[in-house]
Amino acid sequence: MAKKGSPLPDFSGRFIGRSRPVAELLALVARVARSESTVLITGESGTGKERIARILHDESPRANAPFVPVNCGAIPEGLMESELFGHEKGAFTGASNGRAGRFEVAEGGTIFFDEIGELPVTLQVKLLRVLQEKVYEKVGGAKPRTTNVRVLAATHRNLEEMTRSGGFREDLYYRLAVIPVEIPPLRKRPEDIPLLIDFFIRRWEEEGRGDPVTLSAGAMNALVEYEWPGNVRELENVLERLLVLSGGEKVDISDLPEKIGRSATLLSAPEPKAPIPEKGTSPPSPEPFSPPGEGGPPPLPEELLGKDFNLSVFLGDLERTLVLQALERASGNRSRAAEILGINRTTLIEKIRRFRIS
Ligand SMILES: Nc1ncnc2c1ncn2[C@@H]1O[C@H](COP(=O)(O)OP(=O)(O)OP(=O)(O)O)[C@@H](O)[C@H]1O
Ligand SMILES: [Mg+2]
Repeated sequence: MAKKGSPLPDFSGRFIGRSRPVAELLALVARVARSESTVLITGESGTGKERIARILHDESPRANAPFVPVNCGAIPEGLMESELFGHEKGAFTGASNGRAGRFEVAEGGTIFFDEIGELPVTLQVKLLRVLQEKVYEKVGGAKPRTTNVRVLAATHRNLEEMTRSGGFREDLYYRLAVIPVEIPPLRKRPEDIPLLIDFFIRRWEEEGRGDPVTLSAGAMNALVEYEWPGNVRELENVLERLLVLSGGEKVDISDLPEKIGRSATLLSAPEPKAPIPEKGTSPPSPEPFSPPGEGGPPPLPEELLGKDFNLSVFLGDLERTLVLQALERASGNRSRAAEILGINRTTLIEKIRRFRIS
């Protein structure tokens, strides 16, 4: 439990998102940052594991000492021991000089084992010893050296499952996972997507990399709807591409990569100008999906005439979009969102569950 009277640090600007899962994540991060415990950060690729590791370090009493990342997947097995623990002069052919390992470089600070699931089993044993006894030897050296380093680790793999198949040592797993921190995938927190988009666009502008950019409502909707298998990293890359190619023009659905535009194409035409009309406001804004009026129904968009068109899918997508928009307008307040949509709160909750909006 967070101690009363000690306000949680403000992570705004460092880990963008205000969905409930992110708020819970950051509250946990704030609580464990100041401890000395080993933390195992899990999450799909691109969810922000390294970013969280850095926040854990920056918020710890070790913040002024080094933060040393080790990408376990990028270092060849044969070099890993010397990379981590260093070597003495003459330890092996070509070792004409001694060299400090990452533990030595990180002394007093934090070492971050990224993709820990890739750490070879021989090194897993050595790491366990460091964690338990706080000692190691350099390659080619006999003298045990003591170390004062906090260990953080991250993986996108299921380490527990790996322990069952023998790919990861169970004792090391339990030692690492003293405090498990799980980062939810982006598709489970779509309400964070507009904030992240805003963050990346602002950063682009602040870095003076180009003209200010705006997104059409349809483009924003499509980006929120997309599943983002590559999570925030994929979103960041897609935006970078859009920003470079837009040349300062408004970004529309047709500018999006095909796989993203496709999922929302059906909703794009006609593009809603005022997504959800505010109740009781006058004069009423034109309703995007109003029944045929004097001017007759809007022409059937080309996309609807394609052979893949399916009315149920179309209406399902539309419903999901409206629920999302209502929740956004109501700042996540479900009662208010239900009111906007003119449905019961329980009906809304059922829809939220069905559409897997969290
Ligand atoms: N909540 C966030 N706010 C701002 N930027 C974020 C956020 N989450 C991730 N990013 C950015 O997204 C990119 C991916 O994040 P990071 O490298 O921390 O993810 P990862 O989980 O370590 O990914 P991988 O599994 O691919 O190594 C980085 O550029 C990071 O700065
Ligand atoms: Mg990473």
